[in-house]
Amino acid sequence: MDHESWFRVKVVVPHDAPTGEGSDRELEAELVADVLWQCDPPAVEQRDSDRVTVLLAAFDSLTAAERARDAVAAMGVEATVEPVEDDGLDAWRTHARPHSAGPFTVVAPWVPTGPLEGRRLEIDPGRTFGSGSHPTSRLVLTELASMDLSASTVLDVGCGSGILSVAAALLGATRVKGVDVDPESPATTIANAERNGVAGLLDASNEPVEELARRGDRYDVVVANLLAPILVDLAESLQAVTRPGGSLVVSGLLADRWETTIDVLTAGSDLTPRPPRIEEDWVAVRLDRLTAPDTTATLRS
Ligand SMILES: C[S@@+](CC[C@H](N)C(=O)[O-])C[C@H]1O[C@@H](n2cnc3c(N)ncnc32)[C@H](O)[C@@H]1O
Repeated sequence: MDHESWFRVKVVVPHDAPTGEGSDRELEAELVADVLWQCDPPAVEQRDSDRVTVLLAAFDSLTAAERARDAVAAMGVEATVEPVEDDGLDAWRTHARPHSAGPFTVVAPWVPTGPLEGRRLEIDPGRTFGSGSHPTSRLVLTELASMDLSASTVLDVGCGSGILSVAAALLGATRVKGVDVDPESPATTIANAERNGVAGLLDASNEPVEELARRGDRYDVVVANLLAPILVDLAESLQAVTRPGGSLVVSGLLADRWETTIDVLTAGSDLTPRPPRIEEDWVAVRLDRLTAPDTTATLRS
């Protein structure tokens, strides 16, 4: 990786900002962090001092960093872009720590851990998304753990590091497929499956979900932790790859506007949403598809 190609977006949120005090200030830093997260950096670092909160997010291209800066600027908050000498991901790696999600404790392989409270889910995201540090990943892990996945097939759309795919296999799914547009994602997903002893149950590729839908693939459970506009774009395909009687779990939705995306997903379909799961400002929703006679063979191992 060319270290010179990394750029850092830096946002300083002063504690004496005119937005107010106490919870308002915290809210502003949180909202800025959410906007940065939506631009898909590998991590957002928050440094608090008495007077300011500094948010840092590294991106692997100037275009991506400028897009994030502009998104923050659109909130009326100043952000700057600066080149970084170090690899932003390696900098993040030194801050990695275990994260609890449902029955799992997500750990990075290089972080020493004692006995863990939850079931070990070891993930090295490399340069992909999905370390377990983001609420949306944890919300979907918790949702998956609440379902009976035994004898189920699972499709993970936007699998990133493979964190959800690997968890689904550990939870009893008989066959899991991960797809992602990121060229590094399939190899990272397979490596994480091997690390957790479930490589035999899982495959990963860059195949577009639209292609899976076109050829009639159907899964018992489909998870899609994507940003809202992408969920809207993929709505038809996501519905199509969820078999009748199966479930679609979506996340990447912001708590103040998740309903709009759910409306699009349910419009003209037989998907019924369950109550949302919420963590911080993020939401995940499980939608169940009506059982109906299915003329297309369900993909089973
Ligand atoms: C928020 S990350 C989720 C990663 C992981 N599943 C998790 O829950 O931590 C979203 C992922 O979706 C991928 N993505 C974006 N657009 C996509 C699309 N149209 N089809 C498939 N994957 C997509 C991104 O490359 C990224 O890896």
